[in-house]
Amino acid sequence: MRLNGKTALITGGSSGLGAAMARRFVAEGANVVIADIDDPNGEALAAELAPKARYVHLDVTQEADWARAVEGIDTLDCVINNAGITTAGNIEQVTLEQFRHEFDIDVVGVFLGCKYAVAAMKNHGGSIINMSSLAGIKATADLVAYNGAKAAVTLMTKSVAMHCAKSGYGIRCNSIHPGVIHTPILDKVLAQVPNPDEVYAGWVAVHPIGRIGKPEDIAAMAVYLASDEANFTTGAEFRVDGGSSI
Ligand SMILES: NC(=O)c1ccc[n+]([C@@H]2O[C@H](COP(=O)([O-])OP(=O)(O)OC[C@H]3O[C@@H](n4cnc5c(N)ncnc54)[C@H](O)[C@@H]3O)[C@@H](O)[C@H]2O)c1
Repeated sequence: MRLNGKTALITGGSSGLGAAMARRFVAEGANVVIADIDDPNGEALAAELAPKARYVHLDVTQEADWARAVEGIDTLDCVINNAGITTAGNIEQVTLEQFRHEFDIDVVGVFLGCKYAVAAMKNHGGSIINMSSLAGIKATADLVAYNGAKAAVTLMTKSVAMHCAKSGYGIRCNSIHPGVIHTPILDKVLAQVPNPDEVYAGWVAVHPIGRIGKPEDIAAMAVYLASDEANFTTGAEFRVDGGSSI
């Protein structure tokens, strides 16, 4: 088992990629703190994975929630800043309120996650994994807020990595950039469009590998980055996107 004895906190752990990472981390021997605002699903997953997992209510935008969540952990080895939302719309459509909301969760949430992770891990080292996106590297017209937020995560990750490396903390910080991955977020989109088969086929078409991703594809990368196998890896962008960024 590649994560034996390690403790990881995963934000947005109640659903989608976060839930897949929680399951895989437990299978690899880790103890997992599932952190989310979706209490029913988070508690159900923690019960499924008990005694290796527990649930904590954590709104990533609230500093007091971070303080409380981290305080309850003896030795924290990994923080995965995964919670996020997707605001669709171009520069003419997205309102200031929507833009601020996107940045509050996807950027301020990651900033606070990195801040509390560094404070908790600086004496013994660890791994911070920030969930960016292919949209944090490559822009599309109708994702102005999401592109901006995920690009901020991409470079914030490198700044944190540099600081930790120069400070000799033994903390690594990397970002993952998924392509389109089949999670509940996509089902919600497909339920809203008149032509779901066509939309799904369009997603598949932009991935040269011939399919969209599975949450397990992302969980596998997160295991590597959390493990000691990655101990020379920091400040890097990991694209798990079926070749869609080629
Ligand atoms: N699914 C994809 O295709 C895809 C592609 C690239 C990047 N991502 C990124 O991966 C991450 C996870 O996405 P997903 O597809 O699993 O989505 P999801 O909607 O299934 O899960 C997101 C989780 O974040 C939680 N969350 C939302 N706001 C929160 C807050 N303020 N505090 C704490 N938790 C909060 C939600 O309750 C939910 O459980 C996101 O950052 C997303 O941008 C997803």
